[in-house]
Amino acid sequence: MPVTLRRTLVDFRLGGDGGLVLSGLPIVDADLGSSPPVTSAPPRGGELARIDAMLLLLASFLGYPVSQAGVDGGRLIRDVSPLPGDETTQLGSSSAGELMWHNEDAYHPLRPDWIILFCLRNPDRTATSFARIEDIPIDESTRSLLGQPLFRIEPDSSNTASLPAAEPPAVAVLTGDPQRPQVRLDPAFMARSAGGDEAGDALETVIKAVDRRLQDVSLAPGEIMIIDNLHTVHGRRPFSARYDGRDRWLRVVHAAADLRRSEGLRSGDHGRAILAEVGR
Ligand SMILES: [Fe+2]
Repeated sequence: MPVTLRRTLVDFRLGGDGGLVLSGLPIVDADLGSSPPVTSAPPRGGELARIDAMLLLLASFLGYPVSQAGVDGGRLIRDVSPLPGDETTQLGSSSAGELMWHNEDAYHPLRPDWIILFCLRNPDRTATSFARIEDIPIDESTRSLLGQPLFRIEPDSSNTASLPAAEPPAVAVLTGDPQRPQVRLDPAFMARSAGGDEAGDALETVIKAVDRRLQDVSLAPGEIMIIDNLHTVHGRRPFSARYDGRDRWLRVVHAAADLRRSEGLRSGDHGRAILAEVGR
């Protein structure tokens, strides 16, 4: 890896901007094959193997590649593309409906530290929405409520199949350094009234404040976006799926800063699939 890239990644890992876009990676579109899910099995090939190697290299430089055991069978590298029938769901495979911003696996105490998105195709330049929580103006009384364990986050629907139906534990939305807090939010999966009226109002306030500060990042093929999943939220703007094999296609890996916290809580052939039921 070039030294300038290594320096950039070290700075990012140690508290950078919350999001980083790397541009100009050469990819040969003709060698990618059809955008999934036109093919039933995960697409393979020499060009995709190079993309996977780059994703794993970046994840391994920042921390350790990990996955969620309940999502796509725990596959370490996943494809994100539109799926017929999911258009208006809150899944990565949605399209016509906005994918509401969130932290990845916000419900989970071992949610990934970073998400790495490699853009293979994006014909309409559909934007990834993004906001750093430290940029969001939050008044003191709201901030104080958000720092208390008054909020409950349900697993998103890609995880529920593997989980018992139980009330999620109460958690705080904001933790850590008040100047640069960590955030835990997934508005589509949080009941507003779970922690009482005041907590519900605080939740509504921060959701509206994030809505106002959301930025759009439109990735082009050959661009990689790295998202700090502890300090930022992300989503996706709506678009029209084509289902012609040329749809928007991202290849994704998650990274954990530390594997020791998940010792004994992982499965899979690769030993990196974090169990969904942890913390329930
Ligand atoms: Fe996400």
